[in-house]
Amino acid sequence: MFRQLGEILLSKTQRFMDNQIDGAGYVTGLGQYGDMLIRNLHGHHTWEDRSYFPELSRADRRFQAGQELLESDHLELDNLLDDITQRSNRVIKLFDLDPSQIKNDIGPLREEFAKLSVFLNRHLTDEEDLIVPILLHHKMRG
Ligand SMILES: [Fe+2]
Repeated sequence: MFRQLGEILLSKTQRFMDNQIDGAGYVTGLGQYGDMLIRNLHGHHTWEDRSYFPELSRADRRFQAGQELLESDHLELDNLLDDITQRSNRVIKLFDLDPSQIKNDIGPLREEFAKLSVFLNRHLTDEEDLIVPILLHHKMRG
């Protein structure tokens, strides 16, 4: 779901830049999909950091190095999500106040969504590679 929402936001931003969708539709989608992605990602990572990763580390000490890597990813990801939130809110406000100004922010926002897609793909693949063998080995999660 995270990957899909990130791809939708990247593609909508690109299509808006290419004048394939109108501004009103774009900012509505940006607000809805952006809010859904950011709130769910924060919630998911908070659960992983506080509950899931410690549980895996207790089950298998070999996970500890992986846990550090994934938690440092979460910090980096939080910074990127904050940048995206600020810039998206600015674009949404500018659409009401002065749409001609949006062009200064839309390119950087597109770059941030592209960076997020690459980051999420790598991070979620790393999580699968580090966690699935532990779940299978210890027969966790059914
Ligand atoms: Fe994660």
